[in-house]
Amino acid sequence: MMDIYSESEPEVAQASSKPSATPTAEPKLPVPKSSYERSPDVQRWLQEQALEDGGTKGEFNPTFLAGSRDRLWILSSLTHFYQEDLITDVLHVVKSGKEATVYCCAADPATGTDYLAAKVYRPRMFRNLSNDAVYRHSRAQHDQDGHVVRDDRRRKGNKKNTRNRATEVTSWITYEFQTQQKLHAAGADVPRALSQIGNAVLMEYVGVVDEPAPLLREVRIPREEAQPLWDCLWHNIELFLANDCVHGDLSAYNILYWQGHVTIIDFAQAVDPRYNQEVYELLARDIERVYRYFAPYGVVADPGALTAELWTRYMLGEL
Ligand SMILES: Nc1ncnc2c1ncn2[C@@H]1O[C@H](COP(=O)(O)OP(=O)(O)OP(=O)(O)O)[C@@H](O)[C@H]1O
Ligand SMILES: [Mg+2]
Repeated sequence: MMDIYSESEPEVAQASSKPSATPTAEPKLPVPKSSYERSPDVQRWLQEQALEDGGTKGEFNPTFLAGSRDRLWILSSLTHFYQEDLITDVLHVVKSGKEATVYCCAADPATGTDYLAAKVYRPRMFRNLSNDAVYRHSRAQHDQDGHVVRDDRRRKGNKKNTRNRATEVTSWITYEFQTQQKLHAAGADVPRALSQIGNAVLMEYVGVVDEPAPLLREVRIPREEAQPLWDCLWHNIELFLANDCVHGDLSAYNILYWQGHVTIIDFAQAVDPRYNQEVYELLARDIERVYRYFAPYGVVADPGALTAELWTRYMLGEL
């Protein structure tokens, strides 16, 4: 298994390579530096995320994780779903993305399905989100329950320590989960989201156990499917907007293709147009990127004009 959870930092701080100004001074010993996951703040946060009653079932010990040095971290993310009777096992890694790893899990029969996908955000997300600025400027801040935080004073009170950072990131993940739930309930082609805790979201799995659905960008679709799939995706974009949502990172990289159907995933950058000044550009980019995939198949459309027309209908309350 790829070791995606290990942090790239050395365990021991590097000694300075500069020549010492005082040659007689004692040489500085390297300062031991513990891993990010072992930091007391992160440990405390992990404990807070653990199921409060400790669960009534036996220990969750997927064989897939045996021997993995990231076992504890992954278990701390997924045990909740086991205790909640949602999953019975973790089977394999579906894919490691930039921000998260998606695992294929065996579903508990009570869920009515065979497999579920668990998206687990990497630990470093809680420290240093690369697209932090995008999140900050493009969407309303949310509290731990995913509710929009309207009062700036509540946020200003937060010191930028690891714990607050973890809470902030968790609120984005909660928002991703809630967005997916809302859109699925509205009839959009997105995986049904079942549960979320801390850094993990559990959702419907697309594909079969040993063959997860490929990304649209990875497949060559039959030419006759192009127009219906574009129409379907356009319908989804409209439906998202009718539900006050712009995906924000839509392209053939975030669309799964399975047996002639498309499923839109990855709502980590979804934005609510009611709180976002720059949403028009994001919407235009989403539409343009999706169209770019279909143009070579002969689909004819004007993404700029479509964006303008769609936005006007949204603003007039006509969606
Ligand atoms: N519900 C699902 N069913 C099957 N496979 C999935 C599902 N959700 C995600 N995947 C797979 O996991 C990959 C990563 O998921 P996602 O795009 O949500 O995370 P990410 O960290 O943003 O990844 P990336 O940086 O690649 O966009 C996807 O590209 C897809 O191959
Ligand atoms: Mg993605």
